[in-house]
Amino acid sequence: MIDGATQEFGPMLRRLRLRAGLSQEELAERAGLSADSISALERGTRRAPYDSTRHLLAAALGLTREETAQWNAAGRRLRPPRPAPTRIDGGQVRLPAYATSFFGRAGEQQTLVATLSRSRIVTVCGPGGVGKTRLAIEVAAAFAPAVPEGVRFVALASLRDPAFAHSIVAAALDIASGGSTSSLEAIVALLRDREVLLLLDNCEHVAEAIATVVEALIRGCPRVRILATSREPLLVDGETLHRLEPLDIADAAVALFLDRATAATTLGAARFSHEAAAEVARRLDGIPLAIELAAALTRTHHENEILAMLGGPAFLREAERRTAVEHQRTLRATLGWSYDLLSEAERTALRALSYPAAGTTAAGARALCGPQSAPDIRRLIDTSLLLESQPADRLKIHETTRTFAASLAGDAEMVHVADRQARWLGSRMRDAFTAGLARVVLRTLRSISSRTGQRAAVL
Ligand SMILES: Nc1ncnc2c1ncn2[C@@H]1O[C@H](COP(=O)(O)OP(=O)(O)O)[C@@H](O)[C@H]1O
Ligand SMILES: [Mg+2]
Repeated sequence: MIDGATQEFGPMLRRLRLRAGLSQEELAERAGLSADSISALERGTRRAPYDSTRHLLAAALGLTREETAQWNAAGRRLRPPRPAPTRIDGGQVRLPAYATSFFGRAGEQQTLVATLSRSRIVTVCGPGGVGKTRLAIEVAAAFAPAVPEGVRFVALASLRDPAFAHSIVAAALDIASGGSTSSLEAIVALLRDREVLLLLDNCEHVAEAIATVVEALIRGCPRVRILATSREPLLVDGETLHRLEPLDIADAAVALFLDRATAATTLGAARFSHEAAAEVARRLDGIPLAIELAAALTRTHHENEILAMLGGPAFLREAERRTAVEHQRTLRATLGWSYDLLSEAERTALRALSYPAAGTTAAGARALCGPQSAPDIRRLIDTSLLLESQPADRLKIHETTRTFAASLAGDAEMVHVADRQARWLGSRMRDAFTAGLARVVLRTLRSISSRTGQRAAVL
């Protein structure tokens, strides 16, 4: 029995942690979670632990069966109300519900549902906050009728230690955690003849470990399908990649901003003209997370103040949603999460690419980042921080990413980058000049040869 006056989840977690003689960091390590997420749960700033998080914590705290029941009841009380799970031939659809409305994406949703019926592993890739999780949940719900034994959501964002990747999948499947029962073999054995869809959400930071789990499931469980979201591909055999673009800046992105601004304050939308909302959507490149954060500012800021803030680091830092998961609370946290996963060389390349006059071709990018930088630039593209756009060979960096990277760049570093760019532009101008001269010479020769009929001899 868990003693103590309150049966609220946060205080209960703290009491049990102290009873086990663990610091937040120690418990985090044992459960394979981040210390931040434990702190957020204890303080009540994160109010709705995922089932899998609760499960990992219960195992790490060594709770008895009775204590686990109380623990689960306290955790579930915190969950926002969600529609009753749909039962499909004994299968359950277990997906997180949102209290807010969904905009746009009809085409992508249709494409992904169709792709899932052809491919057993589909990965939705894109930068942080572009809407991967939200869309994947819609897609999984739409696909549910095709998987009689249900849909399960596996939240990987708070998982820190890749060694626990399969435990968190096991927890989502209600396989007891700890010991050999949650081994990868046990998961494969459980799902061998089952027709289920697993939504593996936020794989990027544990991509390799998750790829191992995915490969085992695809090989050993012929009727299991996997929909993953990640900032970079999982690189497993048979993976179909869907690169997710931001929302349509002329339509869904504006609707999203106005909707969230209206919800933020009764005056929110009224303060904002349609033109200003369209400007916000455009300046934030149609990224839904950035747009929601801007909308939250309408509580405290006027239209002009928000528009003035958008381009700068204050927006990345200050626009905040306290109720969001840790890595999505501010844009700085979202971008920092991606940045932390990069190598030193890749970080340097990203900072160089934040240079205001950054070239938008692949050659221009290489010139800015230095002679050995091609693999680092490739990796920035793979991790969705840099985007390939049409026409081919054009590279794009979202404005929020640029502002974030620029805020981390030192002055001396940028002087160096500016110098590289100046030299590159200089050499291009020389080439152009030379090419121009060559054209003049060629034209003159042609005109001489056409007059004399001696072209071959002249050339
Ligand atoms: N199409 C959409 N309509 C409404 N809200 C959206 C849409 N796409 C994303 N959002 C919201 O934007 C935020 C970031 O989306 P999310 O799916 O978590 O991004 P990602 O998984 O790519 O980091 C979330 O609060 C989500 O609810
Ligand atoms: Mg996500």
